[in-house]
Amino acid sequence: MRIDTAALAVVRDHFDRSMYPLLDHRMSLELRPSATGFPKFEALRRIVGRLAPAQRTLFRLFRLGETVDDPAFRQAFPAEVAEALHTGELVERVPDGWRSADLLVVPAQRMLLITGVPAGYPTAVRSPKAVFDFSTSFVAAALPASLAGCRVLDVCSGTGVQALLCAARGAREVVGLELTESAVTIARANAVLNGLTDRVRFRRSDLLAALEPGERFDFVVANLPYAPALDPARRPSTVAEIGNCLLWPLLADLPPHLADAARGVVATWRSAGHAGRTYQLDAIAARLAEHGCAVGAYVDPVFDSVDGVLDLLRQEVGGDDAEPRLAELRALLESDTVAVDGFYNQLVQFRRTAAHPVLQEAVTFGLS
Ligand SMILES: C[S@@+](CC[C@H](N)C(=O)[O-])C[C@H]1O[C@@H](n2cnc3c(N)ncnc32)[C@H](O)[C@@H]1O
Repeated sequence: MRIDTAALAVVRDHFDRSMYPLLDHRMSLELRPSATGFPKFEALRRIVGRLAPAQRTLFRLFRLGETVDDPAFRQAFPAEVAEALHTGELVERVPDGWRSADLLVVPAQRMLLITGVPAGYPTAVRSPKAVFDFSTSFVAAALPASLAGCRVLDVCSGTGVQALLCAARGAREVVGLELTESAVTIARANAVLNGLTDRVRFRRSDLLAALEPGERFDFVVANLPYAPALDPARRPSTVAEIGNCLLWPLLADLPPHLADAARGVVATWRSAGHAGRTYQLDAIAARLAEHGCAVGAYVDPVFDSVDGVLDLLRQEVGGDDAEPRLAELRALLESDTVAVDGFYNQLVQFRRTAAHPVLQEAVTFGLS
């Protein structure tokens, strides 16, 4: 897609006039709640079928990712909207009509967000151009109510949702960093679509690489991906190291970018642990304590087994030495010296405090 501000303004106006967020909300009342932001495809499809023709076409294209035929497309969109969708590269002509460019438009957190078609939908033809999933709503729920006047950093910004939410909560300036070019473009489009371009900037960046040395932030949010969980060049030697390999370089490089009273939320998924604590969390708390930060965490057990997690890792490790590496990981997870009773999702909050020395242990809360 292309960032064409004028075209996106026409598109946004059309979604608003079509009462897209309201209709989506009404339809959600007949659907099972979904933490991913995406209801079950067939259930949503049945309800979309009950909409008036123009809205049905809009939802089929942008909520389901379906192809619509040319007469339905022309009937649904006034010429200037069809033109804007085309110039903004939000739709593409296909032999049997029109489809979105592998994008959906999701009302979320009082915003309209362009995102990729989730892999679980039958209309997903390529891997999603930007991720919006279960983790998104958890991290969004962990953001502070007000960030008035703050300078905010969103690491691994994806669709830009957290960065945009921070701007909507009063941040004076937000920088979003994201590795995938297609996601950076989508995030920029989402800033236009939600009228937040004056305060939010997205940069393509491998972790913090695109930051200038002197840039400092009052609030940091990082919803780290589950994959890549392993650094191909390193072999974990402790259970704490099994999990997101981006975490450690992030914690090493972040401190010089933290303002004096900085706070933040870092989310990591499926970390090995025991009795409601993860080994990774203690390692995170110890590292952040070195920089004057106290740590608290929401820790939530997940249902993945060791076999399930190793299967996920198998997809990433690949190569000839995959099986020996996975056997090493299994040995670490099943060793008698470290108790592992399962995996946990954790949303780690940190805050730079005046207290000295800072507690090296994280306070945890969550459901057992
Ligand atoms: C779990 S998603 C979070 C997206 C978004 N912040 C949200 O909450 O919905 C993780 C994101 O990290 C990005 N990512 C993966 N490796 C990265 C890296 N080395 N540097 C920056 N971003 C990265 C992925 O492309 C993906 O968009």
